[in-house]
Amino acid sequence: MENALEGTVALVTGASSGIGEATARSLAGRGAAVAVAARRKDRLDTLVTAIEADGGRALAIEADVTDQEQARGAVERAVAELGSLDTVINNAGVMLLGPIVDAPTEEWERMVALNVNGLLYVSHAALPHLTRAAEEGRRRVADLVNVSSVAGRRANSGSGVYNATKFGVNAFSESLRQEVTERHVRVSLVEPGAVETELTDHLRPEIRDQLRSGFDFERLHAGDIADAIAYIVTRARHIAINEILIRPTEQVR
Ligand SMILES: NC(=O)c1ccc[n+]([C@@H]2O[C@H](COP(=O)([O-])OP(=O)(O)OC[C@H]3O[C@@H](n4cnc5c(N)ncnc54)[C@H](OP(=O)(O)O)[C@@H]3O)[C@@H](O)[C@H]2O)c1
Repeated sequence: MENALEGTVALVTGASSGIGEATARSLAGRGAAVAVAARRKDRLDTLVTAIEADGGRALAIEADVTDQEQARGAVERAVAELGSLDTVINNAGVMLLGPIVDAPTEEWERMVALNVNGLLYVSHAALPHLTRAAEEGRRRVADLVNVSSVAGRRANSGSGVYNATKFGVNAFSESLRQEVTERHVRVSLVEPGAVETELTDHLRPEIRDQLRSGFDFERLHAGDIADAIAYIVTRARHIAINEILIRPTEQVR
């Protein structure tokens, strides 16, 4: 599948670390020109330099996708500077776990703003371009991959609002899939279990300690999820991988 994405353009949100960064490298390694979006511009610049050093093409786009104008601006800049938009990886997300009772509701607002609204804004802005790529692009198929979570499939005590956002992502993705699949825009869900990234750095310390004691096993690596995403977006035009749920082998729930 080397260079399967030659001549295509991808946008990856949340590409300054973790799964998004690994995915951007992976798509660039398969020949896509990759627009990498997040708030930390210095991290994006370092990633672009690394991709270019490996012979790839990349563009850093500083954007806070919780702001609709910035989300739309990121999509439009990717198209304007790289020429089209064939692949979108809606990956930016935040996981602020903890009990619902007495929760700081500011954490809920941050999760809904990014995991739901940010993903909706990017999708809305990208769909006309994805539809055009499916009609006119080299591969005549386009991909919108939404990074959900095992938390989008199974609710647990202590993750209620994160569950709500990811269940929401799953519902939106299935509805949109039905709407656009006959136009060869494939909408896919990737649902990771525990992956070793910066995601847990944003938890309150007491919640992080509790989580660590419950996840005392080898976690997935960001590259494991990037591999799954690469598999989805490199399939032939008649194959749509709708959903991939990936847990570390030792993760029970
Ligand atoms: N790690 C896991 O165990 C796990 C499991 C299941 C699902 N997931 C999902 O995987 C996705 C990626 O998470 P990760 O594990 O790779 O964590 P991560 O390393 O913390 O990455 C999160 C990314 O989102 C970006 N981001 C945060 N706020 C943003 C905003 N307002 N606008 C644009 N970008 C923003 C961050 O960049 P900036 O801070 O620079 O903006 C960062 O690049 C998330 O949707 C998460 O829910 C992760």
